[in-house]
Amino acid sequence: MTLSEKYGTEIAEILSRYPVKRSALIPLLYLAQREGGYITEAAMIEIAGILKLTPPQVYETATFYTMLNLKPVGTFHIQVCKSLMCALVGSDTVIGWIKAKLGIGPGETTADGLFTLTAVECLAACGTGPMMQINDDYYERLTEEKVDRILADLKSTGSCALKTGPFMWPEPARNG
Ligand code: FES
Repeated sequence: MTLSEKYGTEIAEILSRYPVKRSALIPLLYLAQREGGYITEAAMIEIAGILKLTPPQVYETATFYTMLNLKPVGTFHIQVCKSLMCALVGSDTVIGWIKAKLGIGPGETTADGLFTLTAVECLAACGTGPMMQINDDYYERLTEEKVDRILADLKSTGSCALKTGPFMWPEPARNG
């Protein structure tokens, strides 16, 4: 099933927000990522058609942003911020805890397909580091105890109450 077939209404709503259609590129790529957690080549070609872009133009954007995955990821995609402010308060240590707990380093997925670990650039929560984003949720001011609980809760129940809020796309300004 194509993106348009599955998400036609949502695509139309996204397109309606932007007077210049190519501005909808990242929201559409993010929508495509909902399918299986990564963006397929077929989806990029379809989005190029929708926005009247060439497939390489879509690929260039998709490969630039770390929140867009071009390869399959685990059920829970752990993205630890490694930029300066988080590095100063221990992002390397957080990666070490996760590595010790799950046996995977950045760029790797656990054998059961449950967790993928990625080290990423700033996630805009610089004052509450060290922090990580798992799927759409933030986890901030991480400690070893918190990381243990987050991983255990996700594994056993699929969610964790320690999340501090979902990642949100900013609402674009509307004319009129
Ligand atoms: S430096 Fe980590 S969120 Fe900005």
